[in-house]
Amino acid sequence: MTEPLTPRLAVVIPCYNEAANVAPMVAKLDAALAGIAWEAIFVDDNSPDGTAERAKAIAATDPRIRCIRRIGRRGLASACVEGMLSTAAPYVAVIDGDLQHDETILPRMLAALESGEAEIAIGSRNVEGGTKGEGLSPIRRMVSDGGAALANAVLPVRVADPMSGFFAMPRALFDSIAPNLTATGFKILLDILLSAGRPLRVAEIPYTFRSREAGESKLDATVLLEFAGLLADKALGGMVPLRFLAFALVGGVGVLVHLAALGLLHGLGPLGFDAAQWSATFVAMTANFLLNNRITYRDRRLRGPALLRGLVLFYLVCGIGAVANVGIAGLLLRDGVVSWGLAGTAGALLTVVWNYAVSSTLVWRP
Ligand code: GDD
Ligand code: MN
Repeated sequence: MTEPLTPRLAVVIPCYNEAANVAPMVAKLDAALAGIAWEAIFVDDNSPDGTAERAKAIAATDPRIRCIRRIGRRGLASACVEGMLSTAAPYVAVIDGDLQHDETILPRMLAALESGEAEIAIGSRNVEGGTKGEGLSPIRRMVSDGGAALANAVLPVRVADPMSGFFAMPRALFDSIAPNLTATGFKILLDILLSAGRPLRVAEIPYTFRSREAGESKLDATVLLEFAGLLADKALGGMVPLRFLAFALVGGVGVLVHLAALGLLHGLGPLGFDAAQWSATFVAMTANFLLNNRITYRDRRLRGPALLRGLVLFYLVCGIGAVANVGIAGLLLRDGVVSWGLAGTAGALLTVVWNYAVSSTLVWRP
């Protein structure tokens, strides 16, 4: 038996419902990385299709393969971060687990790092020799191009394919940037480039984006929202928690829902004001709960019986928040310290902070 080599390159593979792609992925890495000591780290968010079991079955006989199975959490970016933090290899790479990225350029990415040519090597569809292939629908292509233009407006370096999820970098560099990352959403490369605190030296290595053979894409509308959130977070210098922003925005939508329901039930409908006001409050709270569950706490999403329990708790939290709101505003107003506008604003602000603080610890527990 030969001595095990310390891996030179750790390949982090985020996956969700990619069971059918696990074994082909290992075979492709094995072929592409001949002559390089490597390890592969599958990071799975407890996929129902048994992705983690497949990876662990291979790991049982192949010491180069590892698997991190996360429970109760979802998220491409955070999965990549966790994988990269889990290795001692001097170089780390991230590649999609659905075989859409071309693993055969990994040796060239590694070489660009080892020679010092670059601090981060990016698999790129937008430089000479690379293409988007058949892997993207026309709409996805537009989103991707638009996102790239938007990203370049805020990036300290020009990157032809900043939306890429395929890259490699020295582990020490990643470790130094990791504490500054936002780590929500889909765009971990962009997050790294924006969090480095200085322009990184980039090399873009062309490849052709393949079509997906098995499984399906996890990109949806909320992923786009998260992208906007990442840019907002960086623009604000990370001072306001992103979750709070999302929570407050959802709250704003809730106000509109409330007014619409009130209009329908009282203005146009049969209910008296008080009854309509109560009903509208429940409609708005329910809408807020569902929106928060999908967007604000997407990574902790409640389902099944937990959803119902969460909803009841949320009513309770908001109820207390509403009482506090009315109480504080009334107190401020009674003492004649401030105008009614200011009193109302202070009450509402206090309520949002209260609702946020309590629901993020009790309703959507970390
Ligand atoms: N662990 C984990 N958790 N993995 C996830 C999650 C998650 O919540 N969501 C997606 N993944 C995995 C998928 O299983 C896949 O291996 C990889 O992340 C990319 O997800 P896809 O759903 O296939 O994304 P895509 O093909 O739409 O987007 C890819 O291409 C973009 C370029 O257009 C990603 O690589 C993007 O990062 C890339 O920018
Ligand atoms: Mn994909």
